[in-house]
Amino acid sequence: MAKDKTIYTCNECGGISPKWLGKCPHCNAWNTLIESVAHSESAVKNRFASLAKTAEIAVLSDIEASDVDRTPTGHEELDRVLGGGMVEGGVVLIGGDPGIGKSTLLLQALDSLQRSGKSTLYVTGEESGAQVALRSRRLGLDHSQVRVLAEIQLEKILATLDTHRPDVAVIDSIQTVYSEQLTSAPGSVAQVRECAAHLTRAAKASGTAIVLVGHVTKEGALAGPRVLEHMVDTVLYFEGDTHSQFRLVRAIKNRFGAVNEIGVFAMTEKGLKGVSNPSAIFLSQHSEPVPGSCVMVTLEGTRPLLVEIQALVDSGGPSPRRLSVGLDKDRLAMLLAVLHRHAGVACMDQDVFINAVGGVRIGEPAADLAVMLSITSSLRGKPLPKGFIAFGEVGLAGEVRPAPRGQERLKEAAKLGFSVAVVPKANAPKKPIEGMTIHAVDRVEEAMEVVRGLL
Ligand code: TYD
Ligand code: MG
Repeated sequence: MAKDKTIYTCNECGGISPKWLGKCPHCNAWNTLIESVAHSESAVKNRFASLAKTAEIAVLSDIEASDVDRTPTGHEELDRVLGGGMVEGGVVLIGGDPGIGKSTLLLQALDSLQRSGKSTLYVTGEESGAQVALRSRRLGLDHSQVRVLAEIQLEKILATLDTHRPDVAVIDSIQTVYSEQLTSAPGSVAQVRECAAHLTRAAKASGTAIVLVGHVTKEGALAGPRVLEHMVDTVLYFEGDTHSQFRLVRAIKNRFGAVNEIGVFAMTEKGLKGVSNPSAIFLSQHSEPVPGSCVMVTLEGTRPLLVEIQALVDSGGPSPRRLSVGLDKDRLAMLLAVLHRHAGVACMDQDVFINAVGGVRIGEPAADLAVMLSITSSLRGKPLPKGFIAFGEVGLAGEVRPAPRGQERLKEAAKLGFSVAVVPKANAPKKPIEGMTIHAVDRVEEAMEVVRGLL
């Protein structure tokens, strides 16, 4: 039988070239050719022939729809983002910056799974067995029965998985694994993709739940998590500032549960501990209100979180800067234009910086109103009143659109002692909320009018 050989596939158009070229000969895109394995013609023929023989069609209603069995990891916050626990044969990708706590969390999870009677395997390519052992002692996991394999060669990892058939295996990290079949270096897009594909196949075939750890590289669009998202069942990302104690784990994709669910952890001396009531951790503690700060209630997943949005508006040079941390930069530009056109607040010659406190990332447009109000407050140099919150999406026409589940957001804010709220009209509660004055607005101008009265 002819041997499989190496070819180069274009990332853009899918065209094939027998050798590496800087420019794709088919679509002329630069630097898009990626090493891959071409299966020999006879192998392909055989594969298709066998598929044709075995393919069987079933009527959808005849197929038994069984709910997936989940194995809780014993860490409530992790189970929450996983949709209840690990799923047999499921593949989870967990991404995040180096040093944020991926290895720590997974070692803790494997240990509790092992203690609950599951067989586990921790494949470490980044650290030696001794380093993993050192971490487990630090975590207080004495007499841990988690099995450790220090290996980076894919073929050996696959063979071990096949022999030992663990219930749950962690590959830490996918960027260190390499396959003999490809000549490119470990960590390259080709290697990462090929290795993840093999491991995914192995998970489905054996029923082992596999967790792949992926580092987010500097560019963000990495030879790592991003290129694998479509292959796996669940994608989790770590968020948070490595300097602060809190870490968020967010589900970006989940075939077995809800997306956008978040788990909140605190990094302690003994590893990551779940934070079961996280709503107030993203507020910086000012004793008195300061200009340029507005609290919003974000609701991603099932729990409302109060997050402080900070703005600094300062006179800039000829081309003023717009910078945002944790919020969408393009949206900031749009909100500044709306603020100018519809509320007469001009920041054209000013540098504008905005930040979501605590390293949390806010994707939902319900942050718009708080961003606008914090900018106005900073520009005017006057603080918003004590106990003030705002949320709501803002449109280009200056309208304020409702945020989903507004009542829940308001109730959470009231519970934490917030007393004044500016919210979209459609989110105004039918019954008053005790201890809270609510200003329901339809347009940006009205929101500005309210704070003018309050400032
Ligand atoms: P780690 O899990 O190694 O990060 P990753 O695998 O995502 O690269 O976490 C490393 C950081 O966590 C390191 O800065 C030390 C800190 N840490 C603690 O604060 N407490 C602990 O108990 C442990 C094990 C680590
Ligand atoms: Mg690590």
